Amino acid sequence: MRIDILTLLPQLLESPFADSILKRAIDKGLVEVGIHDIRNWSTDKHKKADDYAFGGGAGMVMQIQPIHDCIKSLKSERTYDEVIYVTPDGETLNQRMANELSMKKNLIILCGHYKGVDQRVRDHLITREVSIGDFVLSGGELAAAVIADSVIRLLPGVLNDETSALSDSFQDNLLAPPVYTRPADYHGWKVPDILTSGNLRMIDEWRLEESIRRTRERRPDLLSDED
Ligand code: ADE
Repeated sequence: MRIDILTLLPQLLESPFADSILKRAIDKGLVEVGIHDIRNWSTDKHKKADDYAFGGGAGMVMQIQPIHDCIKSLKSERTYDEVIYVTPDGETLNQRMANELSMKKNLIILCGHYKGVDQRVRDHLITREVSIGDFVLSGGELAAAVIADSVIRLLPGVLNDETSALSDSFQDNLLAPPVYTRPADYHGWKVPDILTSGNLRMIDEWRLEESIRRTRERRPDLLSDED
């Protein structure tokens, strides 16, 4: 898979891919991540990539030209399954969407800033608009990193234990069960006996019951979701 992220603030997207699971996925060649500074595509002599809104009002609007040229250049190299714009008024990211995106080959993610992008970008260049929740961030970079992380960790070979993404919260619409590690007794706070019993069948059953209990208590809406 390849993910190309278009941004006015490329530095903000350095660290999420420079550590831990995402870095390892890149180093292993399981995913390629390209970070593109939109300003580099501006034909303006000062590399300007935003301007005042037609009709007035506070806030700058990201211009279509540098975004269009950057997308055109990427598309001349490969075909893209989706060109995503991250925006608070998009479709809300969930595990189902992450699963779906993880099966694509190439993705572009455009980060918005200021008042957002010229509507013509959204009308003509974007295939999908995604929000990471009902709150507003100062820019789309952190949202793009969240989407990329949720997708990359699902790619085959990225997690050490191939099955561990399957036991994540939200897979099967269930939250993950509680987990414990050593010591089994910490100043009288004990690990449930079943987990140290060695009975794998009983442990699996216990985990499923705990998942269902947790989901019923915290997110009953997930249990009534159709798929
Ligand atoms: N940009 C600003 N806020 C955002 C959000 N909640 N989701 C995606 N992109 C955003």
